[in-house]
Amino acid sequence: MPISSRSEEVIRLEKVVKIYRVGEVLTYGLRGVTLSVKKGELISIMGPSGSGKSTLLNMIGLLDRPTKGRILIDGIDVSKLNDKKLAYIRNRKIGFVFQQFNLINRLTVLENIELPLVARGIPRSKRIPVAVRALLTVGGDKAWLKKKPNQLSGGQQQRVAIARAIVGSPEILLADEPTGNLDRASAKTVMETFLKLNEQGQTIIVVTHDPEIANCTRRIYLLRDGLIIKVVDPDPERCIVNTVK
Ligand SMILES: Nc1ncnc2c1ncn2[C@@H]1O[C@H](COP(=O)(O)OP(=O)(O)O)[C@@H](O)[C@H]1O
Ligand SMILES: [Mg+2]
Repeated sequence: MPISSRSEEVIRLEKVVKIYRVGEVLTYGLRGVTLSVKKGELISIMGPSGSGKSTLLNMIGLLDRPTKGRILIDGIDVSKLNDKKLAYIRNRKIGFVFQQFNLINRLTVLENIELPLVARGIPRSKRIPVAVRALLTVGGDKAWLKKKPNQLSGGQQQRVAIARAIVGSPEILLADEPTGNLDRASAKTVMETFLKLNEQGQTIIVVTHDPEIANCTRRIYLLRDGLIIKVVDPDPERCIVNTVK
């Protein structure tokens, strides 16, 4: 069999439903989302608050399991994997960036970036150069390595968080409102970093409220009430890289 375009599909969701249950109350996070993302794509997800954006990203990032439907990551049907195997796939194939950075303030910047490599059992002597390279790739400064995250600005912390997300060369980079807590200049820097990583072949999905972020991506999925209601073409002229001086 020839290598089909299927093998280029790094993410596939089939009719994914997520129902949250809190006590007696059931809430739909997703009502049946089907989505295909190919290797090297850069896409964004927009939609009102509560429309299911984070739920969708958490499903793709294997942070939570769907109630119904199937998820394939790099061709692997993850729906049936046990927690241990899921954690293994997550560590190898997924990098996650959050609005609140989610760095650990009692660890140094270097130790934060190293974490995904620690989980793989890679010795410290081998971790350090890889971590330093990741920090430099995202435009970080070696002088940050010994600092604690809370000694850095928000924009700098987010760069550290991106370094941590890519340090293990994951197949997929996921970002949930990565610029939501940043000023415009820092938001621009984050988007420039994503564009650079994408040029190097990184598959990226960005959840955002900011049209000037979404307009930097190749496709915008609009979510509403747990469903993808529309796919929109971005306007590159209104990408933050071009609008913010
Ligand atoms: N852990 C949870 N427990 C219960 N309901 C949740 C949970 N997470 C999300 N929801 C609900 O699922 C829906 C989608 O939420 P979410 O994915 O966070 O939306 P968005 O990221 O677009 O703001 C909302 O109605 C929200 O209240
Ligand atoms: Mg959200």
